[in-house]
Amino acid sequence: MVGTLITFEGIDGSGKSTQLRLLANFLRSQGGEVLVTREPGGTPVGLRLRAALLDAQEQVDPLTELLVFAADRAQHVRRVLRPALEVGQIVLSDRYADATKAYQGAGRGFSAELISEIVQLATEGLIPDLTLLFDLSVTESSARTRRRLAGRQKGDRLDSEDPEFHTRVREAYLGLAGKEPERFRIVTTKGSAEETHERVKEIVVPFLEARGQIVSREPAAAGSRQTQPL
Ligand code: TYD
Repeated sequence: MVGTLITFEGIDGSGKSTQLRLLANFLRSQGGEVLVTREPGGTPVGLRLRAALLDAQEQVDPLTELLVFAADRAQHVRRVLRPALEVGQIVLSDRYADATKAYQGAGRGFSAELISEIVQLATEGLIPDLTLLFDLSVTESSARTRRRLAGRQKGDRLDSEDPEFHTRVREAYLGLAGKEPERFRIVTTKGSAEETHERVKEIVVPFLEARGQIVSREPAAAGSRQTQPL
């Protein structure tokens, strides 16, 4: 049986991780076999790479950064993603290869050719079935990140990049989505998490139903809800 790989992408503070959790809970409630994972850090060795990569105190050279994200991905693809897909699971990954194209490509300035060679090497050609791009302006997402930093969660090295960096990353993501409209869906995250979750369900539920991965037990779209009889 072949599973489905859905990746969640977007700039820091775009709200993708919250949406991933909400969708995973919903799909499980519908009987879906869901695996939640992430990059960097989706494997035990990946967790150690993640700690090194995101350490706010560490000066990480951009080339090192590119190669370590790729190493994390190689481990993730071979040890987690492929085995889960082979047994037919619905895999939700918080970031994948598009993040390297956006952050290390547009953000750090590595050439598209080099990035695509390294992505190919690490992924062995594994392409997501669906990619949700959570989009929000850099001003709004930075405000969210600042609020998060003011709370319990610590910021990481990439959170603290300047707004121009995040603007380049956002534009690169939108450019990738424009080039592969079949694979990407852009989801605006203005408004409440619940409203965004409804939009996500409207995209994902029919997609998974068409692949035979879930049989919906409740209407996905607000618009398709039964109205009260008069
Ligand atoms: P993420 O776990 O999404 O951050 P958080 O949950 O703290 O919001 O990603 C961590 C950071 O790693 C994020 O700033 C994006 C960056 N990143 C890259 O630069 N390249 C990559 O290939 C990946 C997967 C992530």
